[in-house]
Amino acid sequence: MPPIPCPTAARRAPRAPGPRGNWLLGSLFPFRKNPVRFLVDLHAASGDVARFRIGPQTVHVVSHPRDLRHVLQDHAKDYTRTTHGYALLRVFLGNGLLTSDGEGWRRKRRLAQPSFHRDALASFLRLMARAANDLCDTWATATARGETIDASAAMVRITLRVASEALLSTDLTEASSEIGSALTTCFAEVARRFTGIDWPLAVPTARNRRYRRAIATLNALVTTLVAERRRSPDTRPDLLSMLIAARDTDTGDALSNAEIVDEVKTILLAGHETTAHALAWAFYVVARHPEVWTTLHAEATSALGSASPHNIDLAHLAALPFARATLEETMRLYPPIWATERRAEADDVIGGFHIPRGSNVIVSPYVTHRHAEFWPDATRFDPARFLAPAKATIDRFAYLPFSSGPHQCIGNSFALMEATTILASVAARFRWRLVPDAEIPPVAVVTLRPRRPIQLALAAAHVS
Ligand code: HEM
Repeated sequence: MPPIPCPTAARRAPRAPGPRGNWLLGSLFPFRKNPVRFLVDLHAASGDVARFRIGPQTVHVVSHPRDLRHVLQDHAKDYTRTTHGYALLRVFLGNGLLTSDGEGWRRKRRLAQPSFHRDALASFLRLMARAANDLCDTWATATARGETIDASAAMVRITLRVASEALLSTDLTEASSEIGSALTTCFAEVARRFTGIDWPLAVPTARNRRYRRAIATLNALVTTLVAERRRSPDTRPDLLSMLIAARDTDTGDALSNAEIVDEVKTILLAGHETTAHALAWAFYVVARHPEVWTTLHAEATSALGSASPHNIDLAHLAALPFARATLEETMRLYPPIWATERRAEADDVIGGFHIPRGSNVIVSPYVTHRHAEFWPDATRFDPARFLAPAKATIDRFAYLPFSSGPHQCIGNSFALMEATTILASVAARFRWRLVPDAEIPPVAVVTLRPRRPIQLALAAAHVS
């Protein structure tokens, strides 16, 4: 791994190409208007390392897998999350895994990692299957009434149910859930503040006051919940119990109550909307590729034939490679986290260009997943890219819906397990079409959402 060059040598490297933009605001408006379109066009015009400005902030977009390895792995400690976007998240999440860096982050990651190991997660497969089964029953009733389904809303709901049951043994989608409603306000505020310009939180506008109340309510409720669980540990095999019981094998160190509160909020946020959009986009692309549904349905009926929410296990899941490949290919074209951002803590050179200390570096899976050098016929939807033997040839830094390097998503196995179970369960029982059958463009907020709800008409599946 080449070291970071000395600052003087780095500053002698040329400036990366890119638009000058408005003298004051730089490219603020075109970027805000349609971030993913802006980034794709920027890559086409300026190449693998491009530079632009948002007001006074210099931003670089790095798109080549070799350079992503440099930022996300080889020099990860020189590229931190001290950015505006992460500051917005920190207001609500505190210092959980998603919003911290350095030694503090490393310690928490070491303690939390075993709880997210695939084998530890196997115990959640049944609650995922139960949620999928209930979803299918609800959809069967709606379909019998001649109703169409809002897949986007249904996926947000089911993934919040799964995340909250796995984490807290509670369904936060229940209307009576105070935590659920405070969370909903916080999620909506974070999303709004990502795309708009807002008063600082200290200014007592009505909206700020509501947001601060929701954060305070959420903190108080989750703190009580964690303290109660700590006082009377029970046998509930959920992630909260695992996080409370986690010990560093060398030092015996454990997470404090305050740290667990931040982790609970982080997991609820990071763990549900991302998976929801991955699934909603999968329903969309499959609706537009009926031949993919045929294979999905055949695989799902054969793999899940004998499975019920009471006996489903990892072997059933292993028999669903096509469902998993469909989700992986969906996340190539529609990565729920369309970009992540870092701050360069030292002058550096990437791809021959100077990256000044203090500038932001954007890594966009949306752009890299369409890089023609790594993805032939990049805009074509083809799940076979993720089936053996082709899958083994994919560069780890050319496909990164879960990011890569030390900050790689801790919940990737959880998400794939959940999404595969839900997609296959639905494909076993229904076929679906899009209404109206028209393209739905993505909108980049915190996650990559569909511009309008993904509305489906379902019918009971028959093998043709
Ligand atoms: C399809 C679903 C998901 C996607 C696309 C996704 C994507 C990501 C990405 C791109 C990151 C890296 C952020 C960065 O580099 O700064 C990340 C981090 C994280 N994700 Fe996920 N995620 C998903 C599901 C989940 C789930 C289900 C959980 C928890 C149950 C989760 C928990 C986290 C946490 C805690 C982090 C911070 C990791 C760290 O920095 O140590 N995610 N996720």
